[in-house]
Amino acid sequence: MNDVGIDGVEIWTGKLKLDLAETFAPAQGEEPGKYTKGLGLNASSLPDVYEDIVTMGANASKRLMERKGLTPEDIGRIDVATESSFDQSKPVSTYVAGCLEQTFDGDFHHANKGERKFACVSGTQSLDDAYNWIRAGRNQGRKALVIATDTALYARDDPGEATQGAGAVAMLIDEDPDLVTLGDEQGFGSADETDFLKPNQQFPSVDGKRSMQVYLARMREAMIDFARNGGDTHPDNFELAPFHTPFPGMVRKAAVLGYRHCIRDTEIEDELADEIGRQPRREAFDDDDAFFDAIKEYTDKLGETTSYEEWYARTVEPTFAISREVGNWYTGSVHLARAAGLVGALEDGREMAGKNMLVSSYGSGAQAEIHAETIQEGWAEEIEQLNIFEQIEKRNEITFEEYESIHDVHNHDETTEMEPLTSPDGEFVFDGWGRMGERKYTYVE
Ligand code: HMG
Repeated sequence: MNDVGIDGVEIWTGKLKLDLAETFAPAQGEEPGKYTKGLGLNASSLPDVYEDIVTMGANASKRLMERKGLTPEDIGRIDVATESSFDQSKPVSTYVAGCLEQTFDGDFHHANKGERKFACVSGTQSLDDAYNWIRAGRNQGRKALVIATDTALYARDDPGEATQGAGAVAMLIDEDPDLVTLGDEQGFGSADETDFLKPNQQFPSVDGKRSMQVYLARMREAMIDFARNGGDTHPDNFELAPFHTPFPGMVRKAAVLGYRHCIRDTEIEDELADEIGRQPRREAFDDDDAFFDAIKEYTDKLGETTSYEEWYARTVEPTFAISREVGNWYTGSVHLARAAGLVGALEDGREMAGKNMLVSSYGSGAQAEIHAETIQEGWAEEIEQLNIFEQIEKRNEITFEEYESIHDVHNHDETTEMEPLTSPDGEFVFDGWGRMGERKYTYVE
């Protein structure tokens, strides 16, 4: 069996930009630094009136299929991962297929379609499903289209409002992929948690501070499980570490804990021993509190070492370049981090073929998943074709009043009418409602 993984990727951002420092902070009566430095976010991407999870997913998929020279006949499976779905029965993938059939010859009637749900981790779970389907040989030579698409909106004045975002990542999964192969080893950390959920409501109920603790706890479990299952966690053995990035500040906290775990019992821990001591081990302490104090002290010191700073600057920091400008895209977020890391590597002329990435996904509710990916020979050519930074540049920057209206337009409980703030150009648009309450879409030349 050939290796299986991601053959190509395309990213589509919502076309509006809410600047957090200039526009959001003053309206909220907050210091800009809370967003730009504390959370690590400059702006949010938001959907214009005619954009939603279907248009963004279909637009990213269309670009991907065209670039890869594919027809519907080549695709055997379409999975959409989202936590912004608007239908309890009909999956978003059917709408996306319907859109694509408007512009490609042929149809997707032969393709197995579905919708995956587990908060943000479902994008990675859909990759898994596609991988398993191909590895099992049930694909009959066909490829899988995985689309992670979300309009990640919070209720107005929820602390999460600063982390909003909207966009889609479309990925093509195939044998002998051009971009990355997925490793067999996986680690999971999964528990019944109520930190962030949407019990049949559009905007999430969030316990923000607790959600951060749950993120760290599940990531830790996943890391232990990954190593137990034979995964290689030595920091020198992976070039990039893309994380699920609700905001870069979250990953900053996770990365130092991850590094601490990865250097334990390695020569890196030995080399750092003179400078900061060895990592405290639980068996050396009488009680948990004393152990936690010691491990916190060690972690704080570790975060200031050159060894950590260099690792972080090379492996983690580049993965924020997109998220920082667009916010949290939920299911797409870790896939943005992978793409951003590779764009940065290309710009820096880093030789990545044959090198590994350690990819850490997460979804509230809660589950973390960690696996390794190996970068393929065709990676640079693939990544060169991404135009996400041009799209980010071209977004229409909105005023706070426009933001208030656009939030209402996308609020299912409001019936606000508003003229679009941008003009569609060569893309799918939401075009009103059908007789059974379905959403309708057309392609605008
Ligand atoms: P908050 O409580 O309003 O913010 O919202 P804060 O007061 O904690 O400030 C944020 C940071 O900015 C802090 O940094 C402040 O110190 C700093 P920290 O101490 O944590 O390192 N700060 C400043 N820095 C520089 N200059 C200043 C300044 N002022 C403050 N002037 C919160 C933060 C995360 C709670 C909120 O954004 C929220 O509720 N977000 C939504 C939940 C979330 O994103 N959780 C993350 C983990 S769960 C997850 O990732 C899953 C998720 O993607 C959903 C899914 O899976 O489906 C969310």
